[in-house]
Amino acid sequence: MTGTAKHAHLSQWKCPSNIALVKYWGKRDFQKPMNPSLSFVLQNAFTETSVELHKDGDQKVAYYFEGLESPFGDRIEKYLDHISGQFTWVNKYNFRISSRNSFPHSAGIASSASSFGALALCLTELDFVHSGKGPDCPEFWQKASELARMGSGSACRSLYPGFSIWGQTQLFESSSDEHAIPLSDGVHPVFSGLRDAILMVDSGTKEVSSSVGHRLMDEHHYQRSRIAQAHENINELYLALLTGDQEKFIAVVENEALSLHAMMMTSNPSFLLLKPNSLELISRIRRFREKSHMPVCFTIDAGPNIHLLYFQENELDVKAFIERELLAFCENGKWIDDRIGKGPERLKDWPSTGSGTGSI
Ligand code: PMV
Repeated sequence: MTGTAKHAHLSQWKCPSNIALVKYWGKRDFQKPMNPSLSFVLQNAFTETSVELHKDGDQKVAYYFEGLESPFGDRIEKYLDHISGQFTWVNKYNFRISSRNSFPHSAGIASSASSFGALALCLTELDFVHSGKGPDCPEFWQKASELARMGSGSACRSLYPGFSIWGQTQLFESSSDEHAIPLSDGVHPVFSGLRDAILMVDSGTKEVSSSVGHRLMDEHHYQRSRIAQAHENINELYLALLTGDQEKFIAVVENEALSLHAMMMTSNPSFLLLKPNSLELISRIRRFREKSHMPVCFTIDAGPNIHLLYFQENELDVKAFIERELLAFCENGKWIDDRIGKGPERLKDWPSTGSGTGSI
C-alpha cells in the first residue's frame, strides 16, 4: 500500500447532535418520515469518529467507543451490510471505527444522531475519494445526509449548520424524504443567538424506545391529523424564522413538543415518558415567560428532559432563573449549556487520490 493509498483509507469527522422543533414521529418504508421535521444542530454536543479500512483478520467491524470495544459494532455491521448495495467497496474491507462523544453517555442526549452523522460523513468521504471526487462536490452533503438517515432517521438533520428540514414539504421543491436540506438562507439574525439549556430530569434508559414509538404511529388513531398538524406547524415555524417572530416561534415549538408526547400517551398501547419534574419545569418556564415577558420556551425529545430555549440577549437573566428556580428539579442539579451550532467539521485533510482514480 503506498503512502497515498493508506491515507485514502482513513477518514475522521466531528458531527453535532440536533434537536427537532417540528418533530419526526412515525415512519414509512425504510427510514422515511411520515411527516416533515425541522431542527437545529447543537454546538457542544457532538461525536468524533474515525473510520479506517483494512484487510487484516476476519472481523468485519471493530467498534471502539471511548477506547473500549463496544457491542454497538453489531448495529454498525448491519448498517454497513445494508448500504453495501450502494457502496460495493464496503464488502472488500474490514472496518476499524473509533468514536467519542463530547457529552456523557448518561446525559440523556440522543447520541444516535451525532454518531450516525459522523459515521455517514466518514463513509461518504471514503466513497467520494474512491470515485475521484473532491470535497467541494455539491452532492457530498446530500449523500452524507441520506446515508445518515439510513442509520437513524433524525441523524440526517445533523449535517448542516443551523436549521434544517427533512421530509417533503410544499415549502421547498428540493425537500425530500431521502435526506435533509439546509435552511440557512433568509433566517432572521435573532435566531443565530438561539440557546438551549438541557435540563436533566432523568438520565436512565427510556422505558419505550423511539423505534417502538415510531411503529405505534402506523395504526395511530390521530395519524392523519398529526401529519396535517406537522405540515401546518412547519409552515408557521418557517415564517417565524424568516420574520424573526419570536412569539410565533414559541407557540409552534411548545405545541410540537406537547403534541409529540400526546401521540405517545394516546398510542395503543400508550406510554408516558414525561416525569413529574418534567411537568414542574414546563410550568415554571411558562410562568417565568408570563412574568418576565422574555422569549423563552421549551421543547422535549422522546424522553423526560426539558430543553429550555432562549436567546442570547437574555442569557444572564435566564441563567439566573435556571440556578434559582429550575435546578432543584433536575437530576443531581445537572443541566447542559448548549446553543445553535455551526455543523460538522472534517478532522483530517481530504485524502489526496493522486491521479484522481480511486485508491480504495
Ligand atoms: O431518529 P430517531 O428514530 O431516534 O427518532 C427521533 C424522534 C424524535 O427525536 C422524538 C423527534 C425528532 O424529530 O428528532
